[in-house]
Amino acid sequence: MTLVVIHAAAPAPLLIAGLLWWFGSPKYTDVGYQPEQPVPFSHKVHAGDLGIDCRYCHASIEESHEANIPPAQTCMNCHRSIKKNSEALAPVRESYETGKPINWVRVHKLPEYAYFDHSVHLKAGVGCTSCHGDIDRQEIVTQRETLSMGWCLDCHRHPHQHIRDLTETSVTDMEWQPAKGQYNAAEAIIQEKELSPPEDCAACHR
Ligand code: HEC
Ligand code: HEC
Ligand code: HEC
Ligand code: HEC
Ligand code: HEC
Repeated sequence: MTLVVIHAAAPAPLLIAGLLWWFGSPKYTDVGYQPEQPVPFSHKVHAGDLGIDCRYCHASIEESHEANIPPAQTCMNCHRSIKKNSEALAPVRESYETGKPINWVRVHKLPEYAYFDHSVHLKAGVGCTSCHGDIDRQEIVTQRETLSMGWCLDCHRHPHQHIRDLTETSVTDMEWQPAKGQYNAAEAIIQEKELSPPEDCAACHR
């Protein structure tokens, strides 16, 4: 229902595009979901080849439950001079000039009734790759995990393979792999930080 309310406030062309997108997608939260974006932004180029840290663009992710999509201003820090006449970047320049946000298509989305907070997971040492896969190799962002309740609970019951030692690596290190002795190392961190991933309904359905 919220969807209808949001779109009712939007101009008509947007409404139609929005509904087509909604009903046209196989299922909003499917693995492999890879919508076309208004700008051919490549994580492979920016996060992979250029090595820009995820948090340069998704800057609020450690403080807020929302992982922001960067405003055009962040892009223009570079694209005022790099590829400044590129056709592909026209919507970015337009957004920068008018202040109207770029209409990125949302890829990962939980239903309204499920609560999720990025910052808690990152502080616990769960890295981006555990939930989003190899974003730094993707030309177009693709959903890699189901984001289903069973998926959440699987990790909450057995988080050890996903807990990093943040004194040695960072949550945005895309090469990190659990090494030998991972279980014990993770168990020590779980004890020290008193991590307790919840399994009770009210934690995720508030
Ligand atoms: C230069 C800026 C920039 C950097 C660096 C960057 N991103 Fe992004 N990210 C974006 C933009 C813009 C979008 C929206 C367009 C898209 O989906 O491709 C996005 C989308 C995403 C999405 C999908 C959001 C959704 O709609 O579900 C994920 C997940 C994501 N980024 C993760 C990462 C990770 C992990 C890294 C680091 C490895 C990273 N990003 C680095 C700019 C960036
Ligand atoms: C730290 C600098 C930097 C930032 C920030 C940055 N880019 Fe880029 N971008 C580059 C570089 C470098 C290239 C590659 C240029 C080349 O291929 O020679 C590039 C290439 C591109 C291209 C391909 C352009 C073409 O014509 O081939 C697009 C599209 C693009 N970036 C979009 C974005 C968007 C959208 C953002 C903001 C979310 C962004 N970039 C932020 C540095 C940056
Ligand atoms: C524990 C799993 C998990 C981890 C770790 C994680 N994400 Fe997410 N991410 C999600 C889920 C679930 C969503 C959908 C959230 C929703 O719809 O409320 C999401 C959504 C996003 C979005 C879309 C915008 C938003 O606010 O929802 C971006 C961008 C994103 N993640 C980037 C990142 C980056 C960058 C990292 C690492 C620094 C990261 N994520 C780590 C699970 C995770
Ligand atoms: C890869 C592992 C992993 C996945 C996947 C994961 N979590 Fe968690 N989650 C954790 C860990 C570890 C903690 C414990 C954090 C702590 O105790 O500080 C946690 C804590 C939480 C909490 C309690 C903290 C808070 O924000 O109130 C909630 C709620 C939560 N997760 C929701 C979710 C939901 C919803 C999903 C699925 C969409 C999910 N998680 C997927 C590892 C994971
Ligand atoms: C760790 C987080 C988490 C916990 C704990 C949790 N849920 Fe969920 N639940 C979710 C997420 C995320 C979804 C959305 C799944 C999707 O979109 O496919 C969901 C979906 C649901 C649905 C919708 C139907 C379905 O299966 O998709 C029901 C009903 C539900 N949960 C009931 C419960 C009950 C009852 C409990 C306690 C026994 C519980 N949940 C505990 C995260 C959680």
